[in-house]
Amino acid sequence: MDRFWKYIKRNWKAYFWAILALALVDGLQLLLPLVFGYFIDAITRGDLWTYYYGLIFLGLAVAITLLRYAYRWEMGKLALHFDFGLRREFFQEVLRLPMSYLQEKDIGDIMARATNDMQAIRQFLIFGLIGFTDVIVLGVSTVVLMLSLNWRLFLASVGPIAVVAVVALTFSRYIFPLFKIVQDVFGKLTEKAQEFISGVRVLRAFSREPKVLEIFQQVNREYYRTNLKLVKLEGVFEPSMALLIGISTVLSIWYGAGLIQRGALSLGMLVAFINYIGTLSWPMMALGFTTTTFQRSRASLKRVEEIIQAKKEESHLEPEDEVSSKFQSLEARNLSFSLEGRRILEKVSFNLRAGQVLGIMGPIGAGKTTLFRLLERLEEPEEGKIFLNGRDIRHIPLEVLRRFFALVPQDHYLFSTTLLENIRYSRPEATLEEVEEAVRIACLDEEINQFPEGLNTLVGERGVTLSGGQRQRVAIARALISQRPVILLDDALSAVDTVTEEKLTAKLKEHARSSGKSVVSISHRVSTLLWADFIVVIIEGTIAELGTPTVLLEKGGYFAHLYQSQVLEGAVNGTEIRT
Ligand SMILES: Nc1ncnc2c1ncn2[C@@H]1O[C@H](COP(=O)(O)OP(=O)(O)OP(=O)(O)O)[C@@H](O)[C@H]1O
Ligand SMILES: [Mg+2]
Repeated sequence: MDRFWKYIKRNWKAYFWAILALALVDGLQLLLPLVFGYFIDAITRGDLWTYYYGLIFLGLAVAITLLRYAYRWEMGKLALHFDFGLRREFFQEVLRLPMSYLQEKDIGDIMARATNDMQAIRQFLIFGLIGFTDVIVLGVSTVVLMLSLNWRLFLASVGPIAVVAVVALTFSRYIFPLFKIVQDVFGKLTEKAQEFISGVRVLRAFSREPKVLEIFQQVNREYYRTNLKLVKLEGVFEPSMALLIGISTVLSIWYGAGLIQRGALSLGMLVAFINYIGTLSWPMMALGFTTTTFQRSRASLKRVEEIIQAKKEESHLEPEDEVSSKFQSLEARNLSFSLEGRRILEKVSFNLRAGQVLGIMGPIGAGKTTLFRLLERLEEPEEGKIFLNGRDIRHIPLEVLRRFFALVPQDHYLFSTTLLENIRYSRPEATLEEVEEAVRIACLDEEINQFPEGLNTLVGERGVTLSGGQRQRVAIARALISQRPVILLDDALSAVDTVTEEKLTAKLKEHARSSGKSVVSISHRVSTLLWADFIVVIIEGTIAELGTPTVLLEKGGYFAHLYQSQVLEGAVNGTEIRT
């Protein structure tokens, strides 16, 4: 909420003018019934002044139009300005959220905060504040005017209008929780729809349509029911307001007619009075409306602030260490790591020097990907565990640290744009020659030449669908383009056939040697790692074997066994694995 008031305070001058313009509009509007009343009285008297009233009306109408334009413009501008700043801040903070937070929270939920909640906040800033000003200025001055016209008439007719205020407030109290429920159910509905549509292939393959439809219908029905309640309430509200205003009008006609007959009131003033009843009904209703939008926007602002104030990735811890931009070494010393109380890695140590190739092997769930995440500080390692060029990575600013690594993740991501853009994503200024070179190393050149538009072919929904192996190699080309000194491959060749894999590893090796890059490669396939300078076998979070491929083969452990079985498989498939 602070953010709100801080913002309003910072822009108080603009708010002041906007609200002043609004108050002026309200004031001028209050004059209209009075002028109208004088006009009628002038006619009944047969006065010649009647013509001038037309001009006064016209003047008032023009002034109201201009002022109304002024406050709408000011209010709108301010609300959009606040919204603009908040949205920017929100997005910036989302980009800095730690990975663990993003995994915990539903992406759909974060999206809802960025859209629905932002909208609720903006609505309050425009309509809520207008309503609030109206309630105060219009409400109070109308009552004063009615009292001064004839206080007895006011007392006689105002009862039902007071009921309007009570009803409006009660109504908002009922409708607010209902509104929130409807929003929540709507969130659930979109979440389900999104889940089912993106999983449509799997659910069709297993003929799950009837079950999925049933689940969807459950939520759909819930949404229908809660919304129906809302419609019912809203449906009752407006007509009953009209009825109450009608009763007030009738009361004032009855009582007013008596006053006119006794000569205590003129016809024109009775007409003015009845007009004021209509005017008064608006701030009474706005009372309820304003409280509702206020409550809603407060709830929304809280949801938005939750993200903005969530704990963020810390760039680095003091003291900040100078680190030379040339890669020299990457070292893990007794690295242990736990997630949610579970030990994932236990006392892992290795030392990778520039130009070396490190292979990492191990069963599924051994902690290999976690190790990569720690190296890039996507997860926070403990102090004094991982060193880059001899400096603790916790003391290196994140943006500096990550500039050393070119990661090809296990679940690589391609954007719906051209192949060229996808590859250049890691370094947009890369030349076409550099891209072609990377494509050659990734063994993609022949396939790309067969695409209708070569590198300019669109991938994804609107273009060609790439095979798993092709996507992996695009991701590798992207990493090569980046010119970063340490290439991290997380099972990056798993979907590539063994023949292509062999070609690719040979080229990659040559590229690494000639450009002085280091490679850390996670793989389940022995053939991918035979070219490594040394291999680390991680089993259940600890290092089970460490050494050159030759040494490990002789040792007869996990690596050697895997080699045996994969060589056999290779022989059956007609391919051969060379050391
Ligand atoms: N965010 C997380 N919260 C809790 N546990 C996690 C989280 N991420 C991973 N783990 C656990 O950490 C362990 C190691 O996971 P990791 O992804 O590092 O395995 P891996 O060696 O890469 O496996 P694979 O070969 O299948 O990719 C697993 O048991 C996994 O369940
Ligand atoms: Mg993994």
